[in-house]
Amino acid sequence: MSRKPLFAANWKMNKLPGEGAAFVSALTELVDRGVAADLMIASQAPMLVELKAAISASPLPCKLGAQNCHWLASGAHTGENSPELLAKIGVQSVIIGHSERRILYREPDSEVALRVRAALERGMDAILCIGETKEQFDSGKSKEVVLAQLKASLHEVPARTESELVIAYEPVWAIGTGLAATPEIVKEMHGAIRKELGALGYSTQTRILYGGSTTPENIPSFMALEDVDGALIGGTSLDPVKYAALIKNGLI
Ligand code: 13P
Repeated sequence: MSRKPLFAANWKMNKLPGEGAAFVSALTELVDRGVAADLMIASQAPMLVELKAAISASPLPCKLGAQNCHWLASGAHTGENSPELLAKIGVQSVIIGHSERRILYREPDSEVALRVRAALERGMDAILCIGETKEQFDSGKSKEVVLAQLKASLHEVPARTESELVIAYEPVWAIGTGLAATPEIVKEMHGAIRKELGALGYSTQTRILYGGSTTPENIPSFMALEDVDGALIGGTSLDPVKYAALIKNGLI
């Protein structure tokens, strides 16, 4: 059985009130409701309620996404978001372990693993991000680093879960730089991730996304690869016209 493509939008710390709803209306005009892909939009927490209403009113197969979650249901954790709260307000998917969280806010693999498990246990999909830095890439350590991150971040995560585990390979040096990885690099890394997932007992249906400077122009070269099941999209996903074009071109 082939894996359905997933084009997931990570809005990061962008968009103001009203812009989430306007984006979904525009996207609904641009993308066919029968599109052969799953979509997801992850906004900042205060926009989730606005986005949920807009997504619910749209016929698009789009999930509501958050950009992180804590592993505890409640407690003294100023600035964090409870997975319980997110699930209760209708969040269906959570990005976890993004390199911006790992590097700027020092989230270690051990915490990432707890966050992934917490999201899955509450019925939300978890999009686990992994990827090497420029320095690690330059010293030829990419595969070693990425596979170690994968293993450590899945430490707490059972191989079989009701909700979906998705992996996103995002080389740090390709994020927001306009310098996407080459299809050769992505092919090799996704193949290695697929193999490791198998060795760890995860399903062959686990989707592996590529992320890092994806555009409507370069997406076909990634989607042509056997182990690329979609993309986690930053900058391009902020504009409904560009996001819709990426989805369209990614399905050719
Ligand atoms: P860009 O598409 O802006 O490079 O961002 C990728 C990313 O970090 C998605 O999570």
